[in-house]
Amino acid sequence: MIILKSSVLCVKVPRKVGEAIRKKLNGMGVLNRGFEIGKNDVYLYFPITRDLSGYELEELKKICKVEIVKQKLERCKSRPRSFLDVLKRELNEEELEFIRRSFDIIGDIAIIEVPKEVSHLKHKIGEAILQVHKNIRTVLAKVGKVDSEFRLRKLEHIAGEKKTETIHREHGCVFVLDVSKVYFSPRLATEHWRVASQVKDGETVVDMFTGIGPFAILIAKRVDATIYAIDKNPYAIKYLEENIKRNKLRGKVIPILGDAKQIIKEKMPGKADRVIMNLPEKAYNFIEDACLAVKPEGGIIHYYQFASDPDPEGKVVEILEGKVLQAGRKIVSILNVRKVRPYAPHEWQIVVDALIH
Ligand SMILES: C[S@@+](CC[C@H](N)C(=O)[O-])C[C@H]1O[C@@H](n2cnc3c(N)ncnc32)[C@H](O)[C@@H]1O
Repeated sequence: MIILKSSVLCVKVPRKVGEAIRKKLNGMGVLNRGFEIGKNDVYLYFPITRDLSGYELEELKKICKVEIVKQKLERCKSRPRSFLDVLKRELNEEELEFIRRSFDIIGDIAIIEVPKEVSHLKHKIGEAILQVHKNIRTVLAKVGKVDSEFRLRKLEHIAGEKKTETIHREHGCVFVLDVSKVYFSPRLATEHWRVASQVKDGETVVDMFTGIGPFAILIAKRVDATIYAIDKNPYAIKYLEENIKRNKLRGKVIPILGDAKQIIKEKMPGKADRVIMNLPEKAYNFIEDACLAVKPEGGIIHYYQFASDPDPEGKVVEILEGKVLQAGRKIVSILNVRKVRPYAPHEWQIVVDALIH
């Protein structure tokens, strides 16, 4: 069979950063879906619909060196472009209304919310995802609410291989994890990168709620820092230990199983240049402890909290300022405040980076 190829404008990047670049290009809305992604042993060629602006190029260059080139690529065969296209052949309009358009992908596992109105169609939904996304082997459905302590949720197998352990790649790091036993959200990838890229060689960081270590591992991958990585969930620490072994790290990650409050009090008052507090439901209960961990000469706190409209950013800054003062420290400057992601209608996960003294 002769395969016809056409010369297309492409972004050429090393294979190892392919997923991060694909997500960025997708977000910019420039991926040319009429062509297959080109690949050889070293590079990927992402087809794009137009030249990138200077700003867009700068965004990509934060991840790796990129080149804009012309490359001969195969045209996509005619096939369903999304799992909804597959479902459209079988479901009626009313049923389709209830199907969630997006789902999380962790490694080769897809996790989707299936509203009760279409729960009888869950296996069909799972099969449609498998049919379109060849990189996915397992589809799980979210069941019930998130447990508040370890931030876990029950998951039900709806299609593909019956498993919950997978290997996820983020910013060139490898994370092995069991999605049913530990918290992980691929939606925090940008945030992990944003914080990690601020850390300098020689810093001491306390990651109070580390999970499987996406902040800690990425920091240690990039710079020669020491990161105390605390979590109360024994499975999180088990996978963190495994992930430390799997990634070639420049810095040192020290996994600690236990309650961040107690660990800081006993082992690390005044040690940290930087504290990461990613427990948005309850972090306000731990601000005093974060202040205790920060060096007497000062340091930075990355503080996360859920807050609702109007002015969610203002609300979170106010809470942080009040609690830092109560802890006998003060905020010298708010370095950054931003919405990390929507959490519920009119509710946001907010991050505040604060320099405290
Ligand atoms: C929202 S997850 C964040 C995980 C990770 N930082 C990330 O970005 O993926 C919060 C983590 O805090 C842990 N946790 C909850 N309460 C804790 C406590 N008192 N001390 C230490 N860890 C705790 C949970 O087990 C969970 O892994």
